[in-house]
Order: sequence, then structure tokens, then C-alpha cells
Amino acid sequence: MLDLCIINCKLDIGTEEVCLGIEDGKIVSIKKLPPSASETIDVKGKLVLPGLIDAHVHFRDPGLTFKEDFFSGSAAAAAGGFTTVLDMPNTVPPTNTLQTFLEKHKIASKRSLVDFGLHAGVADLSNIKDLAKYKPASFKIFMDLVDDNFLMDAFGKINEVKDVPPNVHDLNEVGVHPLISLHAEDPDVVEQCTKKMKKEGSNPELYAQARPPQAEIESIRNAISLAEKFNQRVHFCHVSTKKSLKLINTAKKTGLKITSEITPHHLFLDSDYLKKYGNLAKTNPPLRDDKNRLKIEDLSQIDIIGTDHAPHTLEEKKKDIWNAPPGIPGLETTLPLLLTQLNQGKISVGDIKRLLCENPAKIFKIPNKGFIDEGMDADLVVIDLKMEGVVDPDNFKSKSKYSPFKGFKTKGMPVMTIVRGNLVMDNGEIIDNHGKFVYSDLEVEH
Ligand code: DOR
Ligand code: ZN
Ligand code: ZN
Repeated sequence: MLDLCIINCKLDIGTEEVCLGIEDGKIVSIKKLPPSASETIDVKGKLVLPGLIDAHVHFRDPGLTFKEDFFSGSAAAAAGGFTTVLDMPNTVPPTNTLQTFLEKHKIASKRSLVDFGLHAGVADLSNIKDLAKYKPASFKIFMDLVDDNFLMDAFGKINEVKDVPPNVHDLNEVGVHPLISLHAEDPDVVEQCTKKMKKEGSNPELYAQARPPQAEIESIRNAISLAEKFNQRVHFCHVSTKKSLKLINTAKKTGLKITSEITPHHLFLDSDYLKKYGNLAKTNPPLRDDKNRLKIEDLSQIDIIGTDHAPHTLEEKKKDIWNAPPGIPGLETTLPLLLTQLNQGKISVGDIKRLLCENPAKIFKIPNKGFIDEGMDADLVVIDLKMEGVVDPDNFKSKSKYSPFKGFKTKGMPVMTIVRGNLVMDNGEIIDNHGKFVYSDLEVEH
């Protein structure tokens, strides 16, 4: 007798319905006929995907919990169909020492409703070796905040770490280096252009030129040469211009282990939204004009979608364009927006799985997640493809109740989110759950 059986699941559009048998939080059978189980959920032919993995969230916990905390952020994740999140290190204090890493681990273990990993920050390079033992999802560097010497030293130091266990999805790759995630914008270009634009006034649309495409392109070029020098795995966060993607894909062809991410706002919005929504559309890197920006047809060349869920308060967003903080909450809009594209035939179920489940699991080496298969964690999202909606930030579970997607009409909604066999969202309602650190063999004593 299994713990749970989910019947009448469609794993893709147009395929036969199957029953998923779940025991101890794992998928143990995928069969036509239902196994006997203590509990049965009938999803009545709805689409069931692996729970989404967001490799890029800012939950602000500790230190900035007036913007978001691990409970509210993970509730937003569950509402949006995400079962795993990887949290960024720019909290207060930043997650760049053993102590702060363990402290965040403790907070998230107590408060997160979904499973989680943590990116480590990079400051004092003597911490890298110890931090690596605690399995950060990556070492994250904000290239806009550091100089070339630091960058070179950081790459060197991270590259020295060689004892990361083999990739769960690629058992041949033994002893790989940790991954470096990059926010790629060149600090000198940003400084010069920001100075220039500030003289022009404070119209929100000036922001796009204060951090122009060139800032990203030069920074990516720089990082690629470091990746090559050290033969270091690098993940580029929120790639926002056509030229950046071209540089990355050309470098990939030479054999470098480089991956790319796009946010839903860079995918669906252009810099005109700065005019329309002002600071609510302010983000780093900024939204790009039509000529430079990436579009849905570029998705086949991109590795993952990360939301860059970066919540702030409305009060902060009311400041002028030069002082309001950059960032857009994305966990609750991403899947409905993508399902709308799916309904319009612009992307496939396979695209959503590749970009938000399979590739994030592979790139960040997350064991047992990203796939619906026997032996994998029972992390699932049930989707009603016909449900229509309108983006309304007032209904967000996130503390951050704004969105440049406000008013967008959507078709397709996550209606149920399951983490290791536990229901955490049912028709928009959040149910309590204990999220776990995804690199689970980490033994942490508190
Ligand atoms: O828009 C952004 N917001 N870009 C970043 O790099 C940081 C983030 C944040 O933490 O708010
Ligand atoms: Zn960033
Ligand atoms: Zn970010």
C-alpha cells in the first residue's frame, strides 16, 4: 500500500493518462492502472509537470524581511508551481561566510515551504574552500560591484576547489569545480553611463541607457575569457541582449562549460515598460529596446529561465528612478505567462520542462529533481490549461505586491503544487510544509 496515488495525470499534451504512485516522498511507479494507496488525488486529465526549479530568487531573509522572508517567498513559489528555489546571497549579512551560510540554512530549514538551495557570496576569498564543503548551489559574483583583479583572484580561488561530488546526472564527471554564477555588467561602463544619464534628468526611461547593452556585453566577454583561462564552469544570470547570447553560444561551441539564463521580464517586456510603469519595471540589467532584446524565438538557444524574484516594498519603489531599488517579483507570474504562450502554440511542454525543471536540476546538480521518473522526488505541479486569469499583484503571496505584468491576461494556471509528496498549494491555497535543503547529504549541526 503506497502513501499516495495521483490518478489521471497527463505528462504531456495529447498523451495517455497515467497514475503516479508515491511512497516516502518519491515517485515509485508510473502506470496506467492505479496502485493501491492510502490516499488518492484525481487530477482529472490535467497536465502534470515536474515541480519547477527557480535557480534565482532573492528571499531577503535574514536582514531585509520587510521586503520578503523565507515563508512569504516560498509561499509565492508554491503558488507559482515552484517546488525548489535557489536563494541569492545578497541578504544582510550577505551569505559569504560559513557562519552566515549556516545561519541562512537554519532560517530556511525552519521557514521554507518548498525545497531550497543557497548560492554563496564571494568576498573574503579565504572562505571559499570551507564554504564549498557546505554545497552552495554556486558562488555568485556581482560583476558590477567588483574590479578585474578581484574577479581574477576569485576565479582562481574557486577553481582550486576540486572536491565537489560528481554530477548526479552525469556520473562520468568526477571532481568538478564548483559553479560560478555571474551578474554580468561592467562597473566602469555602468558608472560612466549612469553619470551621463543622471545629468539628463530623472525620467525612468533614462535608466535603460544608464546601464546599456554594452555594459553586459563587455562583462560577458571578460567572464568568458576567465572561464577559458581557468577552464571554469560559469552560469550567466539574466542574459538580456541578443549580442550577449551570441557571445555565450559561440564560446559554448569551443567547448567551454557555460550556461545561460533569461528572466520572464527580459523575455516578455521591452524598455518602453520603464516609461509605462516607472520604477516597477526597474531592474538590473535593465529592460532592453526591441532591437537588442531577446524574444520567445530565442528560447531554444537559452539554457534556463530564472525568475530573479527580487521583491522590494512599494514605498521604496516610490523613490525617484535613481534611488528606487531595482527588482521585480516573478514567482507568481512566470508559469501563467509561459502557459499562455503554450496555449498560443509559441512554446511546447518540452520547452517549459527543459528551461524550468531539467536544465536547472542538471546545471546546479540538484539530486533527484527536475524529472518525473521512478526514484525521483515527488515534486509536481498540476496545471489547468484552460483556466484564464488576469495578473493582479494584490493577490500575490509575496510581500511584494507590484508587477510590470499587472493586467496581463493569462490562460493556464498551476492549481496544485506538491513537494516530496506533500501538498503545498491547492487551488491557490497554501498548506504548511517543511522544505529541505536540496543537497541533502550536507550534515549541519545547529
Ligand atoms: O534587479 C536586480 N535586483 N538586480 C540585481 O542584481 C539585484 C536584485 C536585488 O537583489 O534586488
Ligand atoms: Zn543580478
Ligand atoms: Zn538577482
